[in-house]
Amino acid sequence: MRWSSRILLFTSALILPLGLAAYGSPQDGAADAKNPVAVNATTLAEGKQLYTKNCMSCHGPLGKGDGKGGAALKPPPADLTDEMWKHGSTDAEIFTVIRDGAKGTGMRGFAGRMTTKELWTVLNYVRTLGPEKGRT
Ligand code: HEC
Repeated sequence: MRWSSRILLFTSALILPLGLAAYGSPQDGAADAKNPVAVNATTLAEGKQLYTKNCMSCHGPLGKGDGKGGAALKPPPADLTDEMWKHGSTDAEIFTVIRDGAKGTGMRGFAGRMTTKELWTVLNYVRTLGPEKGRT
């Protein structure tokens, strides 16, 4: 084998996995998947307000999924305090559920009712309801 082709082989062996890693990274549909809202006392208080106003009726005061407004829903409102994230546990996945809703369930998207910043703010608050769950 000529040196030039060895070098070529070597470089492609290096570059290919890199390319694959980039290709295989999560394509979650949330273009702004990086959480732009810092977690601090002020934003968490804002998040709690947003939650109380928009989410508590179904998900309950503590996020257990026991809100009166969701009692008749099938599937029932998710318990946001447990380890289970049916629709994914990453910020991007949870953001997508809050923004777009969960198809075929009572969870409707809040895209038209909240700004992007508010969606992230309420997400940060939701994260405080249970143990830290597999943030990636
Ligand atoms: C009308 C009732 C209702 C309201 C209001 C509501 N939800 Fe939901 N939510 C649901 C239901 C029902 C599900 C369960 C969907 C499923 O099982 O697939 C759900 C699921 C979720 C999930 C996914 C949980 C998981 O395990 O993957 C998140 C996150 C969530 N809701 C957050 C919110 C937030 C934040 C708000 C307020 C901005 C909100 N919800 C308002 C009914 C509601």
